[in-house]
Amino acid sequence: MHGIINHHEYLVEAAKRARAGNKPLIHSLSEARELIFDVIDRIGARSVCEIGSEGGLMSEELHARYRSGKLDRLTVIDPFPTQTVASYGDDRGCKVLAQLSSDALPDLPAHDVYIIDGDHNFFTVYGELKQVLKHENALVIMHDISWPWAHRDLYYDASVLPDSAKNDPVHGAIHPSSSGIVPHGFDGRGQYTVAAEEGGDTNGVFRAVVAISQEVDIAFSSVPALFGIGFVRSQSFAHEAGLSKALDFSAIEPLLYRLEENRLTTYLRVIELEAHLHERNVELVRINKGRLSLFEFAKIFGRFVLGGFLSKGR
Ligand SMILES: C[S@@+](CC[C@H](N)C(=O)[O-])C[C@H]1O[C@@H](n2cnc3c(N)ncnc32)[C@H](O)[C@@H]1O
Repeated sequence: MHGIINHHEYLVEAAKRARAGNKPLIHSLSEARELIFDVIDRIGARSVCEIGSEGGLMSEELHARYRSGKLDRLTVIDPFPTQTVASYGDDRGCKVLAQLSSDALPDLPAHDVYIIDGDHNFFTVYGELKQVLKHENALVIMHDISWPWAHRDLYYDASVLPDSAKNDPVHGAIHPSSSGIVPHGFDGRGQYTVAAEEGGDTNGVFRAVVAISQEVDIAFSSVPALFGIGFVRSQSFAHEAGLSKALDFSAIEPLLYRLEENRLTTYLRVIELEAHLHERNVELVRINKGRLSLFEFAKIFGRFVLGGFLSKGR
């Protein structure tokens, strides 16, 4: 718990961040680093495999841990690691694999912790869970088990998946109020496609967890923030006591749910208002163009028609 001094420090830092310009919507798992590292410490994990590194925000945190000797082994899997992330690879315990998880995972030795945050679709996540849960004592930390990807597939590159694995990928915007595609909402800005329709047994990240739970005896816990973070392990996980301690915040859980819902609602409202503003601006430009041509017309009319008339009358 924060005391007076900690709280004061937090306020000072928050004000600094606000002046520098806060990020509009935090999304990287690195934002949950304190929680993740607390879990890692409490279960005594010495090796971590991160699936999906994107800009490398979480990879950087993990690599700092590896460098400081708190991890013996770190593996990062992403078909397109950044140059910085690629440079983390060494001939000791750190490997950066520029591959799809489905190609990389079968050949990997067991890791204590797997962070699943790669392609967010049922087929891929189900396959990843199936592979990593073969390691009896693995803890799987999963990102995006809540809206928007809990019940809807995202495809970074749908062409690498078999047709039967895809739920009608489309470019389009999504919103919690609709199961389909909406005019304004989360829209991936061309970086990925999404399932045209939300729902069904084989659609989305959380559905993959549900499917696995019907085949393997797993335990599941979640943190309802940052798009949802899930903790999956076997029922016989050896470090359950340590994990439970780290995840012991049931009293604050309802508040986290509300805060997450609230930040998404606010963010989506901003997207909607920006879109309306853009539409209004386009309309204004169109009207102004109309006015301009009317003005041009009046100028021409004045110069040639009225001018001629007046000169005749002189
Ligand atoms: C949501 S981002 C990861 C964010 C990162 N873990 C963080 O918290 O900062 C997803 C990443 O997964 C990668 N990816 C997509 N398909 C993948 C696959 N089949 N296997 C591994 N990584 C994949 C993408 O290239 C992208 O960089």
